[in-house]
Amino acid sequence: MNEEKFVIAIDGPVASGKGTIASRLAQELHGLYLYTGAMYRIVALASFESNIDLNDESLVVSLLPKISISYDGEKVFFNGRDVTERIKEQDTANGASIVGVYPQVRAALVQMQQQIGRDAISKGKIVVTEGRDTATKVFPDALVKIYLTATDEIRAKRRLLQYEQKGAETTLQYVLEEIAERDKRDRERATDPLPSNPQQVGYTIIDNSTMSEEETLHAIKAVLVRVGVAI
Ligand code: DC
Repeated sequence: MNEEKFVIAIDGPVASGKGTIASRLAQELHGLYLYTGAMYRIVALASFESNIDLNDESLVVSLLPKISISYDGEKVFFNGRDVTERIKEQDTANGASIVGVYPQVRAALVQMQQQIGRDAISKGKIVVTEGRDTATKVFPDALVKIYLTATDEIRAKRRLLQYEQKGAETTLQYVLEEIAERDKRDRERATDPLPSNPQQVGYTIIDNSTMSEEETLHAIKAVLVRVGVAI
């Protein structure tokens, strides 16, 4: 039996709604929510805290053995410290995209993700994971592969709202540029990029620009039903 038959992978660009949807789906299925972006954000945070320049690949890589990451539902822990709120900030979001270019960072984090996923599956859980390469690299045999997206404008508005709720002062124009830069880097990197041809590599594309959260969840559940997942 292929254990990846128990994986639902949701990938897509910045602020496409992957996090909210994957987390809700995992709760409904009593499964594990595996937020892979948190790991890249933690590597960026670890670099900031060690005063390491994110552009210095070998110094960033040298931090990897000192980083341990664990999850508890939606909470994320870095060396035992709850960093769930800290890693939502703009500096770690942009930093994650920079360190995510480094092949050795990716190799280490992918291995951690596969280990966490396998442990959950061995305990009988379904894994709902989200990121950029979860259906192509982390769990290439995932039962369900969703590519969630929305227009740049809609995604920027969503992200702006999240930043405002956290008290950050920024503008729609700035967020639009930030998102464009991050998506470009995530799509153009040499190692395990966000696919630019999602349909050809096996994803079902869902554009949720005009959908509510409920409607997006409903659309994903329809895909699950088609492949025989009991929900
Ligand atoms: O999903 P997110 O916004 O938390 O991801 C932050 C950054 O981390 C994203 O811009 C690129 C990187 N990332 C990645 O390279 N691969 C993943 N599977 C998840 C995130």
